[in-house]
Amino acid sequence: MPFFDRPVEKPEELFDREEELGALRRAVNSYAITVVVGFRRVGKTSLIKAATHGMPRIYVDVRKFESFQYMTYDMFLDELRKSVVSFLSFDKRVLDYIKAVKGVRVFGVELEFSHGRARPLLTSILEALDSWARDRGTRLVVVIDEAQELTKLRGYNIIPAIAYAYDNLRNISFVFAGSKIGLLYRFLKVQDPASPLYGRYMERIELKPLSREKAVEFLRKGLEEYGIKVSEEFLERAVEKLNGIIGWLSYLGLRVVGKGNASLHTIDEVLEEASKIAISEFCNFVNAMGSKRYIEIVKAVGSEGATWSEVKRYLELKLGTKIYDSELARLLKNLIDNGFVEKRDNTYIIPDPILRYATKAIRC
Ligand SMILES: Nc1ncnc2c1ncn2[C@@H]1O[C@H](COP(=O)(O)OP(=O)(O)O)[C@@H](O)[C@H]1O
Ligand SMILES: [Mg+2]
Repeated sequence: MPFFDRPVEKPEELFDREEELGALRRAVNSYAITVVVGFRRVGKTSLIKAATHGMPRIYVDVRKFESFQYMTYDMFLDELRKSVVSFLSFDKRVLDYIKAVKGVRVFGVELEFSHGRARPLLTSILEALDSWARDRGTRLVVVIDEAQELTKLRGYNIIPAIAYAYDNLRNISFVFAGSKIGLLYRFLKVQDPASPLYGRYMERIELKPLSREKAVEFLRKGLEEYGIKVSEEFLERAVEKLNGIIGWLSYLGLRVVGKGNASLHTIDEVLEEASKIAISEFCNFVNAMGSKRYIEIVKAVGSEGATWSEVKRYLELKLGTKIYDSELARLLKNLIDNGFVEKRDNTYIIPDPILRYATKAIRC
């Protein structure tokens, strides 16, 4: 089945991506830290799951904190705990290692982490996992998906634990994935000389949208497998609207399969539904940041793109007040770090075709 409404799990289910698959497999076997970056829905999670399929892997998804203003170490630990519990189906012997960690209790195949002062240290948990991997003669991959959300972690810094693992735990390799590239690097603090991760090598894999040709092929071949023939016009229009974003193309594919035929009207329907999703994700950001000004900026950038002074003029008109350059710079930087806006030459643009299409309709 070529279209999925959730991340792909197995390599044979992936369309294209042979090169990235090979690169990621090599990376997790050779480097302590690999960073996988790319827009939302280009297929990062799918690539990572497929590349590490069948390998010892702990997969922590912190995406759910996207709509939160902050998160605590206990919240993070709870996600980690769940991931370790799922990993037990791979090898129950992990329990023998993890139960020796202070602050961890084991009941059958359930784990409990203490809270507050007695809570386990991330370093100790990683050490236990490393020992498990060492004794099995294997490498454990620890994936933190949408890792940029960890910039919201308050009261605890996990970077020293990761730096410690980098230096000492040879049987663990990390994969940090993120769709908000600026934030991801801000979280990892690779550029900050005061950070324990400063200057550490990280392999970087960037996932790009499919080329026009590949996007057309993905839709055509996928639909053919369901016995649905499509016109060139349909394919051209679909790719013009959804670009090479495989998640949106899959969404359209599933919709067409559900209806049993491919009419141009379905593309418009999908655009409308996708817009609602993209707007609600953008509104999560607006709410987490606590300023409606982001909405006006995105409207100013709109479907055509805008220069700094165009954005500024629009914003001042809309708000009826003067905006300082430093304020606008800060707002734009947050939009860029969060992946909603990009700067190309001197123009700000919205890279996501759906959000770009939907700007006029945004209300949060
Ligand atoms: N290589 C691929 N082949 C087929 N479908 C894919 C591929 N990559 C992603 N998808 C589909 O696209 C959607 C988004 O993929 P996902 O991996 O969740 O993206 P991301 O993690 O970058 O947001 C999912 O429904 C997934 O099934
Ligand atoms: Mg993902």
